[in-house]
Amino acid sequence: MIVCHCNRLTANDIGDAVECLKSNCANPDLCPDNVYGELGACPRCCNCFPLAEATIREAELRFISKSQLTSPTPLSAENRIS
Ligand code: FES
Repeated sequence: MIVCHCNRLTANDIGDAVECLKSNCANPDLCPDNVYGELGACPRCCNCFPLAEATIREAELRFISKSQLTSPTPLSAENRIS
């Protein structure tokens, strides 16, 4: 699905950029400007921003879910066997 017609950016492109930004920094600024910049693009008319922001949020949630599935959860003190 095309999200940004000016730059021909798809939802998958945006998802890839979000994943890259989240992988390189714990708390990146995921505004459309930064995400588009990661893709070598630059906003023009900005009409796509509402859809881009929703797509970025979805991609961020997918990244967080995937990270939680792959990283081990440390045991809390009360759950440890001593
Ligand atoms: S549609 Fe994305 S900047 Fe114009």
